[in-house]
Amino acid sequence: MSRVRVLAIETSCDETAAAVVDNGRDVRSSVVASQADLHARYGGVVPEIASRAHVELICDVIEQSLVEAGASLEEIDAVAAVRGPGLAGALLVGVSAAKAISIARGLPYVGVHHHEAHLYAAMIEDPQLEPPLVTLIVSGGHTLLIAMDGHGSYRVLGETVDDAAGEAFDKIARFLGLGYPGGPAIDRVALDGDPEAIRFPRPMRGEGHDFSFSGLKTAVVQYVRKHPDADVADVAASFQAAIVDVLVEKLVGAAQETGISTVVAGGGVAANSALRGRLFDLAADGDLRVVVPGIALCTDNAAMVGAVAAYRLAADGPTPLEAPVVPNLRLA
Ligand code: KG4
Ligand code: ZN
Repeated sequence: MSRVRVLAIETSCDETAAAVVDNGRDVRSSVVASQADLHARYGGVVPEIASRAHVELICDVIEQSLVEAGASLEEIDAVAAVRGPGLAGALLVGVSAAKAISIARGLPYVGVHHHEAHLYAAMIEDPQLEPPLVTLIVSGGHTLLIAMDGHGSYRVLGETVDDAAGEAFDKIARFLGLGYPGGPAIDRVALDGDPEAIRFPRPMRGEGHDFSFSGLKTAVVQYVRKHPDADVADVAASFQAAIVDVLVEKLVGAAQETGISTVVAGGGVAANSALRGRLFDLAADGDLRVVVPGIALCTDNAAMVGAVAAYRLAADGPTPLEAPVVPNLRLA
């Protein structure tokens, strides 16, 4: 690939992010403005508040990403933005900004799939990484096991039949009164708990590649109602252990079944310390090559968008400016 410097934008949910990335793997800058504080009092992301906050933040965040990269707009070769999946009003802000820059500067525009971006975070983490690989994408809205056979070539092996893993973290955190966002809160509290204190179910264990978390959520709620004096740290640690067990087993199972020996993780839940610990153990076992991006590359960011955009541009050319945002955009 000849040198391509991408200005990338991500506004699919509640982070306003921009980055400058060279050649799909070299991150020159990555700026993320989190709106978490704005949404915390509502216990979850409020779409209208997210859109408005993106509008207020987007120009400054883009500006800062250029300053931190030491790059001017003249040195940018393409501009990219996530066009789905995500909240329609939120996606529109980043996509509109990218299209405006594209038109004003005569630059190619690249519309990016959010999950494909999460997958390419692993390519930034390990610049030697190449497909085939199996990836576990675990975020607030999705839980996916995907085989990547080549750049742009995906097979969805499994997905959640109900709640996403991150959604389960967020709902249980709210139920336990731990606040929002729930994943980091449970992660923190669980550090003081015993993951074996309560044996919660491991849903759909040994049953193919799909996931289910709503039964686990119900089991936690029922347990706490029955045992109101249960130690919150033990509940959090035991719940987290159940989710992590299922995620790791299914990832390993998918690698075994496909015969693919490289596995990667991405998405906000891949920031979870227990999951990361298990994945690092898996790497140490030596049977699989395991790539776990740094925490800032797991949660929503624009560096991963710049990474995938370079490949999409080389393979498919620019995305037409008429291409709309697609809140439920599919990867494969
Ligand atoms: O990928 P992401 O930043 O945004 C979406 O695309 O959804 O993922 C957000 C999700 C939230 O559900 C959040 O609670 C969860 O990732 N999360 C975590 C951790 N950090 C973020 N879940 C468990 N442990 C964490 N440390
Ligand atoms: Zn995400």
